[in-house]
This record gives sequence, structure tokens and C-alpha cells, in this order.
Amino acid sequence: MKRILVTGAGGQIGSWLVPKLREAYGDDNVLATDVRHLGTEMTDAGPFQVLDATDPRAVGQAVMRHDADVVYHLAAILSAVGERDPRLAWHVNMTSLEAVLEVAREQKCAVFTPSSIGVFGPETPKSPTPQDTLMRPATIYGITKVAGELLCDYYHAKYGVDTRGVRFPGLISYGAPPGGGTTDWAVDIFYQAVAHGRYTCFLGPDTQLDMMYMPDAVTAAMQVMEADPAKLLHRNAFNVTGMQLAPETLAAEIRKHIPGFTIDYDIDPVRQGIAESWPDRIDDTAAREEWGWDPAFGAAAMTEDMLKHLK
Ligand code: NAD
Ligand code: SER
Repeated sequence: MKRILVTGAGGQIGSWLVPKLREAYGDDNVLATDVRHLGTEMTDAGPFQVLDATDPRAVGQAVMRHDADVVYHLAAILSAVGERDPRLAWHVNMTSLEAVLEVAREQKCAVFTPSSIGVFGPETPKSPTPQDTLMRPATIYGITKVAGELLCDYYHAKYGVDTRGVRFPGLISYGAPPGGGTTDWAVDIFYQAVAHGRYTCFLGPDTQLDMMYMPDAVTAAMQVMEADPAKLLHRNAFNVTGMQLAPETLAAEIRKHIPGFTIDYDIDPVRQGIAESWPDRIDDTAAREEWGWDPAFGAAAMTEDMLKHLK
């Protein structure tokens, strides 16, 4: 049975991933950690520890005490927050990853690190965006994610650390709110639609981005870590996508369930600029071929499920 440590467990992904890991591997085998205290739904269901992932000694001690053999490293600063404080984004994203990789090398752990569509930049082919392509991101978030992918591959090639990752698109979920990204609109829109029947979007109507429903994201994170290493030609990180959405297309889906729903626009130039530098549609063939990636949710099924839970 795996012994797992999760950093940044209280965020949008961790709040979904930790319960699924505990279901699969046993409550006591999954140590949830975060730099802040979390609610009882996380801390009562299994072990929890406050842990600053940028502190290598603390990470090393936590891994040793829990006897972990896998680390899901989720602690990070996302794209919009990163543009407000680039030094914080560099510090948290790079220092924590280096700490986790060094501990993994010393204590022989496998490491899952989520990358992002943020690795791509304005010069990247937009539709479809290949698995292996030009990556010159225009955000500090993207720069840390490209550097992180390379560092993870380096630790695998040089030290044999079993590092794996996926490039998540924008993730849509209910529960823990998103942590300050460019794709947060695709979550907020549902809350505002249910509460007020209207939404003011910070991206323009036809700004298309890849998205994924959280149950598929959790499946991807667990599936890539269970994949047969002999079949992996890539490691850090695989393109994965569930659907492509623009504000006007998601609004139309929501209108099928809430007919009076309206959307208007108050464009934020920073987040609009970031979104325009990211792909319209990424090609996830490598993930499909190398470890069987096959998302369950498209736009219609995701919208129906989100609204069912939020109502
Ligand atoms: P989030 O912002 O919702 O959660 C991040 C968590 O990390 C928070 O609970 C925060 O308290 C914690 N944290 C921050 N600094 C920390 C530190 N120094 N030590 C320990 N914990 C710390 O983020 P998320 O959406 O859950 O994203 C998790 C990972 O997935 C990140 O690497 C992110 O870049 C990546 N990702 C997310 C998305 C998305 O749409 N949510 C898309 C692509 C990639
Ligand atoms: N959802 C994330 C963001 O917008 C993508 O990595 O920052």
C-alpha cells in the first residue's frame, strides 16, 4: 500500500484529491499538509500537518515521519496572483519544488507535480497545441512551470527519481474556491448564475481556453502515477484536456438550465492578456496513448453536474 504526502492539500485540487487518495489507499496512509490550518473535513478524515513546503527540513521530516513513498506536490501560487507578486510566485513555486525533489531523491519517493497550460506562450501553436512544442510563457507562473517541468525531468534523468506530471487546463469544481488564476471565471460563473442569474466576466466573450471538470483532474493525477513506467515516453508533463470553453459558450450551456441567465463583460487587461497567450485547444494524444487518459466530462455533462450540486 502506498504512503502518500500531499502539499497544498487545502486548495482547489487538494480538497478533491485527498479524499479520493484516502478512499483508494486508506485514510491513515495519506498525510494532508498545507501552510495554513484546514477545516475538519480534511483534518478529521485522516492525518493532517501544517507544513510550509518551501522549508526543505520540514518537508524532509514530514516525509520521514510519515514514511511516505509518494508526494503529491500541489502547493503553488497561480497565474493571476503571480502577476501581482512575481517574487512570491518564484519563491513558493521553485523553492518548494526543489525542496520536494531533494527530499524525494534522498528518501526515494515518487513525485507528482501539476504543470499547467500556463507553460505555453504567445508564440506557441494555439490549436492544436502539440505535446512537444515551443514554450516561452509570458507570465512568471508559466516561467516557474516550465522550469519546474525541466527540473522534474532532470531529477528523473540524473537521479532516477520517479517524477510525473500533467499540464492541467483550467479546473472547474464546487467546494474549495480557485486560488487566483486566469481560469477562475469558469467557476465563479456557476456560483453567480445560481445566486443571481447573472455574471460579469473578466475575460472577453470569445476567449477560448482548455478546461476540465475536477473529477477528471483527480483521475488524471492518480492514473498517471499508477501508469506502467515502461510505457511512458514523456513524464513532465503531459498535455491533458477535457473541453474547450469561452465565456459565451459556457453561458449558452448554463442557459439550457437557467433560461434567464445573462452575462456581461468587464475585461481585466492583465488576465485577458494571460488568456490570449495560452492555447485555444491542446492536443492530449500522448497522455491517451501512454497511460490511457480518457476524460469522462464534456461541457454539457460538467454543466449539468455543477448546477445539480450548487443548487
Ligand atoms: P490553490 O491555490 O487552490 O491551492 C494551493 C494551496 O497551496 C493552498 O491551500 C495554499 O494554502 C497552499 N500553499 C501556498 N503556499 C504554500 C506553502 N509555502 N507551503 C505549503 N502550502 C502552501 O491551487 P490549486 O488550484 O489547488 O493548484 C494546485 C496545483 O495545480 C498548483 O501547482 C497549480 O499550479 C496547479 N494547477 C492548477 C490549476 C487549476 O485550475 N486549479 C490548473 C493548472 C495547474
Ligand atoms: N487555472 C490556472 C490559472 O489560471 C491554470 O494553471 O492559473
